[in-house]
Amino acid sequence: SAEEPIALSVLPRGQPRAEGPASVLGIGTAVPPTEFLQSEYPDFFFEVTKCSEKEALKAKFKRICDKSGIRKRYLFLTKEVLEANPGIATYMEPSLNVRHDIVVVQVPKLAAEAAVKAIKEWGGRKSEITHIVFATTSGVNMPGADHAMAKLLGLKPTVKRVMLYQTGCFGGATVLRVAKDLAENNKNARVLAVCSEVTAVTYRAPNENHLDGLVGSALFGDGAAVFVVGADPKPEEKPLFEVHWAGETILPESDGAIDGHLTEAGLIFHLMKDVPGLISKNIEKFLSEARKCVGSPDWNDMFWAVHPGGPAILDQVEAKLKLSKDKMQGSRDVLSEFGNMSSSSVLFVLDQIRQRSMKMGASTTGEGNDFGFFIGFGPGLTLEVLVLRSMPIV
Ligand code: CAA
Repeated sequence: SAEEPIALSVLPRGQPRAEGPASVLGIGTAVPPTEFLQSEYPDFFFEVTKCSEKEALKAKFKRICDKSGIRKRYLFLTKEVLEANPGIATYMEPSLNVRHDIVVVQVPKLAAEAAVKAIKEWGGRKSEITHIVFATTSGVNMPGADHAMAKLLGLKPTVKRVMLYQTGCFGGATVLRVAKDLAENNKNARVLAVCSEVTAVTYRAPNENHLDGLVGSALFGDGAAVFVVGADPKPEEKPLFEVHWAGETILPESDGAIDGHLTEAGLIFHLMKDVPGLISKNIEKFLSEARKCVGSPDWNDMFWAVHPGGPAILDQVEAKLKLSKDKMQGSRDVLSEFGNMSSSSVLFVLDQIRQRSMKMGASTTGEGNDFGFFIGFGPGLTLEVLVLRSMPIV
């Protein structure tokens, strides 16, 4: 009798999958050395961009800084760097070359600094790192920032890389979503999920014709953050959070609300005023779907790692979902101490949440809650959400 054809699906697959969900096994963060106090920033910014005579604009910038929820930020662009590269401190002069000369070096460097800390906390060997997922909106290059970071860290040449350029602020959630899929679909994978941002591409002088640019100048800061992600943890590995769900959506009627265009004068950002309204109006439906996978706990029985895009976004999401005041504290702390570091921010927030949990004496890494959200948003408007499970603190 004729042999039954073997269905492809029953053939052993070349790459065995992990059994359990992906977990965050280590976290590291890094910022450039120079700290800028927000209270002193309007004077510094208008002087260094030679705009001190624009008094009304400066007063408006000061109002935005005062309401930014930011106490300090870290920036690679010091007075000395700006004086050496004067094109960056103009409004629209062609300056992409010098901006790229900076970010092509500094983005992977800051990422490597954060990765060393994440790998140290994880406790494994660099040779066990199998994948890198790297997001940045700070410049583009070939080979990419992922390649440069792998070289700086001395990772093995067979490390499998995914480079995500120009995601904007939702990239922080994207790297974790992709790292989750890689870790769960490749047994023993240990993935570096990396974000690194250096504002040298968006930095520019203030101008009356670009008031949303003024908001960016008041909010953005530099920083890099790395998670080590893997499934089926070994006894010596200490998971901090498990990833239970990941999804992404484009918010309705939000075209053009946040966009950025790479030009000869660097990356030009546009932010509509109703970004906080569009996010808060549309977030509930998607989050309701997301939380079903963990039995739909009450919003206030979850922890919240939300991209700190600006205080108005946090305030309006908090009000819309009737969150208690402490729910956004991790996001507010990161906004206050580092500013909006685009894709890196939400990784900093999760780090802050587990540190707060330790300080509070909470029973879990999620401030005593079992489950929580990890939320990025950015151009599109794109909303990218992960549902995490926290781990007991022993
Ligand atoms: N464009 C231009 N001007 C703006 C503006 C915008 N998008 N948003 C606020 N302003 C101006 C206001 O007109 C106001 O000007 P006047 O003082 O001259 O009236 C000034 O900023 C201060 O505004 P408010 O008095 O209304 O104060 P506020 O409490 O709303 O605080 C703010 C100002 C800190 C900017 C706050 O509105 C905020 O947090 N906004 C959200 C910022 C935002 O969109 N963040 C997302 C950044 S993008 C991102 O994170 C993702 C990415 O991909 C990069």
